[in-house]
Amino acid sequence: MSYDIIRLLHIAFTAFWLASIIKELLAPVQLTTQRSESLLLLKSRAKRSALLGAGSGIGTILSGSALLSIIGAHDNSWALNAGMSGALIMAFIGAVPVSRCYRKAIVAIDQASDLSGAAVWLSRSRSWSFLTLLLWLGSFTLMGLSRFI
Ligand code: HEM
Repeated sequence: MSYDIIRLLHIAFTAFWLASIIKELLAPVQLTTQRSESLLLLKSRAKRSALLGAGSGIGTILSGSALLSIIGAHDNSWALNAGMSGALIMAFIGAVPVSRCYRKAIVAIDQASDLSGAAVWLSRSRSWSFLTLLLWLGSFTLMGLSRFI
């Protein structure tokens, strides 16, 4: 019973993780022509994206680990292990390159008023998010099939 509840929670967290990736992919790369407005926009976007991405990522990993402790690590299938590796790579991408791109974009506007430079960093961040989407799809498929393969 508690296993099913945690599994449900786990799947809900993965859905929020997907939502945060899609939100990031659909966000516009263009900034306004006003420096202060762009800075404000970018800072609030970085904050929201960090909150949703980190919250859902940590929730997925913690709930997944709880499931793993119930079924026992020795009962892992290779698909489960591959899905877990995908999740850890996604978490790394969100925490390191994506947040670095945001920091660089904020610095570009803040210190050099370089709006086009900031847009380039935002577009790089979006490429990383696209890679995260592919990893998410792979992890989801492998986890879903892990009972059968
Ligand atoms: C470190 C991260 C993760 C760990 C430790 C983990 C662990 C687990 C475990 C132990 C199960 C139960 C398998 C079973 O009942 O046989 C499970 C199920 C599942 N996981 Fe994960 N998981 C992680 C990340 C993810 C991610 C990133 C996704 C999706 C993108 C995902 C999607 C799923 C799905 C859909 C199921 C349900 C499978 C089913 O009911 O047949 N998991 N996970």
